[in-house]
Amino acid sequence: MAFSVIDAQERHLPALEALEQRCFSIPWTEEQLRSWMPDERHVFLVAEENGEMLGYVGMLHVLDEGYISNVATAPEHRRMGVARALLAELLERAKHLELAFVTLEVRASNEAAIALYSGFGFQPVGRRKNYYSAPTEDALLMTVYLK
Ligand SMILES: CC(C)(COP(=O)(O)OP(=O)(O)OC[C@H]1O[C@@H](n2cnc3c(N)ncnc32)[C@H](O)[C@@H]1OP(=O)(O)O)[C@@H](O)C(=O)NCCC(=O)NCCS
Repeated sequence: MAFSVIDAQERHLPALEALEQRCFSIPWTEEQLRSWMPDERHVFLVAEENGEMLGYVGMLHVLDEGYISNVATAPEHRRMGVARALLAELLERAKHLELAFVTLEVRASNEAAIALYSGFGFQPVGRRKNYYSAPTEDALLMTVYLK
């Protein structure tokens, strides 16, 4: 698949909002997505092919800490390496930003995402009881140390 990984731009917002609605039970609104657009505190990457957005990943960074907000790939483009390419570029950016670690929360039953993160060296570091709603579920905390 010949997609590119690039910084998210304003023009991606409608497709990002549509993808959120397809992938999550409590999707982010366009306003929430807008607040994660690339700036001095946010890395927001999209995978794009011929103008079609296939997936995205977002990260907030404060001091030397990175926090991944969301990763999603459109259902019809899964298992083609889209999320892997997005995370690989995100972790390159994190190293460039000299972050000490990158961390995230994931639904404890989300085997696909847990396998994806484990492949990049993220390790389980904790659990937040009943963190998610719709449906209620624990969050697994996973962290990768970069230094
Ligand atoms: C999790 C998700 C982002 C993976 O996206 P993807 O583009 O299909 O992932 P990739 O094709 O890059 O897969 C990379 C690796 O992740 C793991 N993986 C991905 N999907 C998997 C699945 N359904 N089951 C098991 N492992 C999986 C595999 O190790 C895979 O490598 P492989 O295909 O060589 O075996 C996608 O399933 C998704 O959007 N899910 C809904 C949203 C979501 O749950 N996001 C995470 C929120 S924390």
